[in-house]
Amino acid sequence: MTTHLLLGQTVGFDGNPLTEPWQDTVQFDSAGGVLVHGGKIVAVGNGAKLRADNPQAAVTDYGDALITAGFVDAHMHYPQTGMIASWGKQLIDWLNTYTFPEEARFGDPAYAADVAGRALDLALAHGTTTLTSFCTIHPQGVDAFFEAAAGRNMAVVAGKTCMDRNAPDDLRDTAQSAYDDSKALLAKWHGKGRAQYAITPRFSPTSTPDQLAALGALWSENPACLMQTHLSEQPAEIAWVKELFPRARDYLDTYETFGLLGANGLYGHAIHLEAREIARLAEVGAAVVHCPTSNTFIGSGLFDVMGLAGAQIRVGLATDTGGGSSFSMLRTMAAAYEIGQLRGMALHPAQLMWLATEGSASALRMQGQIGHLGADAAADITVLDLASTSAIAQRSSRARDIWDAVFPTIMMGDDRAIKEVWIAGVRHSATG
Ligand code: GUN
Ligand code: ZN
Repeated sequence: MTTHLLLGQTVGFDGNPLTEPWQDTVQFDSAGGVLVHGGKIVAVGNGAKLRADNPQAAVTDYGDALITAGFVDAHMHYPQTGMIASWGKQLIDWLNTYTFPEEARFGDPAYAADVAGRALDLALAHGTTTLTSFCTIHPQGVDAFFEAAAGRNMAVVAGKTCMDRNAPDDLRDTAQSAYDDSKALLAKWHGKGRAQYAITPRFSPTSTPDQLAALGALWSENPACLMQTHLSEQPAEIAWVKELFPRARDYLDTYETFGLLGANGLYGHAIHLEAREIARLAEVGAAVVHCPTSNTFIGSGLFDVMGLAGAQIRVGLATDTGGGSSFSMLRTMAAAYEIGQLRGMALHPAQLMWLATEGSASALRMQGQIGHLGADAAADITVLDLASTSAIAQRSSRARDIWDAVFPTIMMGDDRAIKEVWIAGVRHSATG
């Protein structure tokens, strides 16, 4: 088995720059190296020393490109790949007008396989090595996604999206079938290769109390699994939840009542939270996911990264494709920066890079395994060209330090900035 040595500028983290001074958490080497063997990172350190100590290693020299952990997208909808950037609607109308008709097509396994492959290839082209996806109600669409990910040896998290009300006839399951199908898919995929199953009620408005309770029961039978859903995205949605669950103390309570609040819970959006909700999320050790391009595109609001991280809640970062308007985690970091500015808080590029790698991995309870440039992590690696367009190159050429050089790529970069991606220690060559 070949040992590889990747040379270039390297950046990783050994702390959380949202809760500690960012300078104390960064490990940067302008002449670094990453030693890879057996699908894992064996060592990160000075490039010349690693080269001298490992003369057998096959060397790839990336010059002054930046070697980072691959990006981890902590919340997206692969079935919405084809309808990304659909115009003019806010959440509930957007779901009914664009999303549900598209999702109804995923009962066709050939169509699901085609879109799943496309979504994963687009992710890889943008430097994203892990996707966390909602699927549709169709078990065959879940199979299609996990099969496509296995074919690319990608670590992914996904689940059958359950809905038994407030959705079109052809997109509704039942409390019992949601439980049965989710249980069977979990048994089939969870822990198979690099796959992880997440129990996936879409959101409270599209599940009856019976369905929420059934999925809560399934989670209590499989507590090591993640449970992913949506929480407090738009004011009109929150008002609807109050109507549908008149006895609930707040939106989070509609999950909590049915056993769907826990340490392995992953709550997308989480923008308009009440004090009790924040306290409960922190108390149980749940994670929230910031979806900034979606939050601006669908008109949802300004997520409070620093407030929630400060409350000791784990925060991940995500595209939320296709409510999100980009497949790129670089663009997603840029949107997180812009939302921070609108809240009066300039997130440092180190904080943005951390969110897209370590933060998302931690939200997924995979810290140290993915999204980490350090020994024992999977060798899922992204190499960034910090001068990928003439506009970026003329700006980064006058950079004062590495962060001043990275920031233009965060703000203006796209798939052209992705020089190379490695998956589990293998150089990725495009399949699409
Ligand atoms: N809430 C419920 N379903 C969805 C979805 O597909 N996208 C977004 N952004 N929010 C949701
Ligand atoms: Zn979503």
